[in-house]
Amino acid sequence: MDRIGMKIVQDKRDAVVAASNGREVEKKTVEGRDLLSVLVKANMATDVKDSERMSDEEVMGQICTMLIAGHETTATSVTWLLYDLSLPQYQHVQTKLREELLTLTSERPTMEELNNLPYLDAVVRENLRYRSVVDSTSRCAIKDDVIPVSTPYKDRKGIERMEFRIAAGEQILIPIRSLDRDKGIWGEDADEFKPERWMVGNTHPRSAEIPGVLSGVLTFLGGPRACIGYRFALMEMKVLIFTVVRGLSFELPESPPLIEPRSRIDIVTRPAIRQADGSYKNSMPLRVKLFGSD
Ligand code: HEM
Repeated sequence: MDRIGMKIVQDKRDAVVAASNGREVEKKTVEGRDLLSVLVKANMATDVKDSERMSDEEVMGQICTMLIAGHETTATSVTWLLYDLSLPQYQHVQTKLREELLTLTSERPTMEELNNLPYLDAVVRENLRYRSVVDSTSRCAIKDDVIPVSTPYKDRKGIERMEFRIAAGEQILIPIRSLDRDKGIWGEDADEFKPERWMVGNTHPRSAEIPGVLSGVLTFLGGPRACIGYRFALMEMKVLIFTVVRGLSFELPESPPLIEPRSRIDIVTRPAIRQADGSYKNSMPLRVKLFGSD
């Protein structure tokens, strides 16, 4: 990532230097409001105060965050979606989705047109719930605290408790996917990929208790450090799915290998296939055809 990130930054810097025609680089020299322009501006412009200037290391940190947080998450979610659409039990979802996508005549629909497709919206939300590619995260308590629970539990000594006592410095695991698949929240079919549950009037009432930024699911977390990119991710996924599912059809290959969800370095859960030597390789073989061809 450092190698790729450094090249992206260096190319942009070279372009900025070329555009400045030998004059000092100022904020106005760097055109564009995209992330890379803003970062390079903060790094290079001579009219930015030293105390506000970003070091090369800080710029690279942002690029790595965006590659993992912004790119890998969305890409992996769509990968899992194509897998689910390929499974024989969910082929009807693929057909229904494509039928809806084909109601748009434009090949370059607007955001509004895509947001007006209810089944596409339901499919994206259900994918985010069902696959929650960031399967868990953790927090460290900065002071002693008490976390109330809705259902009493018995502690190690058999005493019934209505709360967890947390000491400063203790780590708390937030099991995102387990909550997104909780039968107490989503009902007995929580382990099924079922976009219909998001259609009007069908959402399970207890999902409203989940304090996620995207209503009902914890996939993007909640609170002040929730995902900053969730609206962008929803839109990006819709554009990708529109483009890909409208023109292509997906199914499993003959004798499909066992695809296993693997979380590496605890960030994104990717599909992988076990190799003969016991190691895993990220892979998702699918049979892809032009829609309508034999
Ligand atoms: C399906 C797609 C995505 C998923 C599932 C996802 C999930 C998450 C989660 C769970 C967190 C909280 C992690 C934690 O604090 O432990 C997070 C944070 C973050 N996400 Fe996303 N994300 C997605 C897409 C994006 C996109 C598209 C961007 C940027 C364009 C983005 C940028 C970020 C950033 C910068 C943070 C850190 C926020 C902070 O700490 O204040 N994410 N994301």
